[in-house]
Amino acid sequence: MTNLATGVWYAIAADHDLVDGHVYRTVLGGHELAVWRAQSGTVQVWDDRCPHRGVRFSLGEVVGDDLRCQYHAWRFGPTGACTFIPAQPQMKVPGTIRARTWPVAQSGGLVWTGIDPAGPVPDLPPGTVARAIPIARPAAEVAAALVALEGLAPVVQPLDAGTTMVRAIATDGDVPRADRVLVALRRRLESAV
Ligand code: FES
Repeated sequence: MTNLATGVWYAIAADHDLVDGHVYRTVLGGHELAVWRAQSGTVQVWDDRCPHRGVRFSLGEVVGDDLRCQYHAWRFGPTGACTFIPAQPQMKVPGTIRARTWPVAQSGGLVWTGIDPAGPVPDLPPGTVARAIPIARPAAEVAAALVALEGLAPVVQPLDAGTTMVRAIATDGDVPRADRVLVALRRRLESAV
């Protein structure tokens, strides 16, 4: 597990990663996360572990406003609480059975979370969210290299101690250019080791 700064918002997905019915899997500082959008439109970020037997939520599917676990089909609502256990359909589900939820914010075409994030999410300029690029270097090193990239407003997501996901807003809307710039940056940083 990576040390993750508390009080910080991290961009962990783009809005376009959240496809209807599917659960997006990602990692933040070694924490495996399941990200999904309920039919009502609210976005959820949860630990990617079902509290029943620990199966990954990201293997499951979104059914209406619930996430249905792939293994025993228990259903969990947007608050994280288990709402339905198919093997015991008459049972009132104890409120203690719940997914571990994370704070969520949506801004700039991105989904943000963190450990006790404080204040508003970073204010990014308008533009188009480019493809996420993983770079096999620590987040601090990647962030330092991103400072001078013109036309891009980048954000970093530490996946683990040595790997970082970079997302960028192409402020001129030129997503192919943003892609080329970030891929070249990855080549440079990874070949420098
Ligand atoms: S492991 Fe998720 S419902 Fe059983």
